[in-house]
Amino acid sequence: MAGRLEGKVAVITGAGSGIGAATATLFCREGAKIVAVDISGKQAEVATRLGPNCIPFHADVSEGKEVQAMLEKAVSAFGRLDILYNNASILGRMRRSGEYSEEDFDEVWAVNGRSGFLGIRYAIPIMLKYGGGSIISTSSMAAVVAFKKEIAYCAAKAAVCMMTKVAAVEYAAQGIRVNAILPGAIKTGMTDGIDQLALKVVGQATPMGRMAEASEVANLALFLASDESSFITGSTILVDGGYTSI
Ligand SMILES: NC(=O)c1ccc[n+]([C@@H]2O[C@H](COP(=O)([O-])OP(=O)(O)OC[C@H]3O[C@@H](n4cnc5c(N)ncnc54)[C@H](O)[C@@H]3O)[C@@H](O)[C@H]2O)c1
Repeated sequence: MAGRLEGKVAVITGAGSGIGAATATLFCREGAKIVAVDISGKQAEVATRLGPNCIPFHADVSEGKEVQAMLEKAVSAFGRLDILYNNASILGRMRRSGEYSEEDFDEVWAVNGRSGFLGIRYAIPIMLKYGGGSIISTSSMAAVVAFKKEIAYCAAKAAVCMMTKVAAVEYAAQGIRVNAILPGAIKTGMTDGIDQLALKVVGQATPMGRMAEASEVANLALFLASDESSFITGSTILVDGGYTSI
């Protein structure tokens, strides 16, 4: 049976770890060819594990030239670009708003907000050449619920949702769909790095009573990347175990 992404070419950022690595694995299993992008170097291990249909690529997603280069790699290596998953981000330093430094704000905005714009900006002209595509961005439930000490992260994730909607309405008629995923608490490298007690509280406050596996987010990315979601664009979809419904 053909895979759900058979014949499609995807660029996935933050593919060295967590949700990005889980998505690269799933997309490959479903027949896609992938450029696995990260700044950490871990994209090489993922590509080695996944085989010749996955190419590792080093890029900083906050830099326009590097974003262009990663997208061009999909075309030069695999002949087209159908899917961009803008997923890389950082949590940034945790400080209350009255103590948050300008430098920390700028860094989080560059990696989490500006990168969303850059991905959209440079993927669209390429996708138009190949008749359309699907752009997915990982936002967060932090786009709709305030988390203390994360002013830059929450603001950037909210901006990703609005950029998603603007690009979606602009290019809907030309076959490019643009959607965002808003995860709740997921077990990844990002959550390994934060206060485990605070995380336990978030897990317990989630109606499902647990954190999610990265694969539970990757499953939605697969649906949004595939033609099964052909009438879905401009959507911001929560994967939060009910957290924001309380
Ligand atoms: N884990 C959670 O609970 C959670 C919740 C909501 C949203 N998210 C979002 O999910 C996405 C994936 O995060 P994750 O949880 O898998 O974390 P992760 O830390 O495991 O993965 C993030 C990856 O992004 C890469 N990265 C960081 N800065 C980069 C840059 N400038 N250029 C290229 N790559 C860069 C890192 O090296 C890392 O491999 C992020 O957008 C994150 O904000 C995560």
